[in-house]
Amino acid sequence: MDFKLTEEQLMIRDAARDFAKAELLPGVIDRDNKQEFPTEQVKKMGELGFLGMMASPEYGGGGMDTVSYVLVMEELSKIDASCSVIVSVNNSLVCWGLDTYGNDAQKEKYLTKLTTGESIGAFCLSEPEAGSDATSQKTTAIDKGDHYVLNGTKNWITNGGSADYYLVIAQTDKEKKHKGINAFIVEKGWEGFEIGPKEDKLGIRGSDTHSLIFNDVKVPKENRIGEDGFGFKFAMKTLAGGRIGIAAQALGIASGAYELAKEYSKVRKAFGTEIMNHQAIAFKLADMHTSIEAARMLVLKAAMDKDNHENYDLSGAMAKLYASQVAMDVAVEAVQVHGGNGFVKEYHVERLMRDAKITQIYEGTSEIQKIVISRSILRD
Ligand code: CAA
Ligand code: FAD
Repeated sequence: MDFKLTEEQLMIRDAARDFAKAELLPGVIDRDNKQEFPTEQVKKMGELGFLGMMASPEYGGGGMDTVSYVLVMEELSKIDASCSVIVSVNNSLVCWGLDTYGNDAQKEKYLTKLTTGESIGAFCLSEPEAGSDATSQKTTAIDKGDHYVLNGTKNWITNGGSADYYLVIAQTDKEKKHKGINAFIVEKGWEGFEIGPKEDKLGIRGSDTHSLIFNDVKVPKENRIGEDGFGFKFAMKTLAGGRIGIAAQALGIASGAYELAKEYSKVRKAFGTEIMNHQAIAFKLADMHTSIEAARMLVLKAAMDKDNHENYDLSGAMAKLYASQVAMDVAVEAVQVHGGNGFVKEYHVERLMRDAKITQIYEGTSEIQKIVISRSILRD
């Protein structure tokens, strides 16, 4: 495979790198401490076109390829994974899902605002009793002719408090199991739609995660995405691409932690020499660099598969599984290279270590990626 990037892809990557250093780095520790949503930064990312990168230009999107998107995700994640998850959800789960499966009226009404950052989106599949086991949806959407009535609770929703539009998955016909599931566009503020308290999290603390409660919420029929019963396929297809974005997030966390550790090893002295001259430290850096390069190739391969209209279920799952393990391993070692300084906030690596963990959990845990991978290779 040719992993050479085009001039345009390199320019987009550099723009994201410059933006992250100039706009995300300054307040990142404070936002993490206070669990503060990066409102200003999200607005600027919208202006730069980072929120609807792959969506159709006729609906305000950038019309860019997935490779450009993962490059941006990596650069943002090196510095602030709370910001990058907002970018990931809006791009891969919300804009891509609507652009690919929504009708013209839905795109006109919702997508045009979501691609520019005028509005933010959320993707609502998980429930208290349906996380990995996503077909066990308890939220119901009962068909009442010209509308559906939505009841139930969604858990762990990224952008839960700050979103304007929510793609909600719900069970319409229980008898039909996953074939009776639908996806709907729900607007914030609709009667009966309540947002639960913000979760107090280990990592990605700048991103707001909430439960959502639906009590007899009336959803117009025109807000259903696709044919009746398409909702579970919609979720799976959307998540397959989303996993490439989270793999890139994991890669970015790993790269960010590695770069900090490398620089630190050049200036910190112990036993009369810079610690990089101790083989134990140099070998850690060698291992980090090697695993990051391997993760990058898996991420780019998955992105290229998607751009080339190849099946990317397998390559996306492999990229997420591997890159999220690399993020965890590299971040832990980066803290070790920093010694005591690694344990305090101003050196950034402790935050990257806390942020790394979520990449093994959301958009399908590592165990779920192994289910996807093993089913795919055994079927073939
Ligand atoms: N594309 C299209 N269809 C797919 C698909 C895919 N990638 N994967 C599964 N399907 C279809 C199957 O073909 C099947 O349909 P048919 O019967 O018509 O063939 C249907 O979906 C059910 O599939 P399975 O029988 O394989 O279902 P399962 O119960 O064994 O579960 C699973 C499969 C892969 C484990 C799935 O439940 C899953 O992905 N679970 C994890 C959920 C998840 O990733 N949640 C993330 C929430 S969003 C999030 O986390 C965002 C964030 O943090 C920022
Ligand atoms: P469970 O499904 O209860 O899993 C518990 C453990 O059992 C895990 O280790 C799991 O891998 C393992 N396990 C479960 N089933 C199997 C099996 N068959 N084989 C082997 N092991 C298994 N969801 C959304 O819909 N939208 C969002 O925006 C969103 N954002 C999130 C943000 C954060 C910060 C967090 C923490 C979660 C978010 N999620 C979101 C939910 C996330 O996708 C789920 O937490 C995840 O899919 C796992 O589900 P669960 O928490 O119910 O764990």
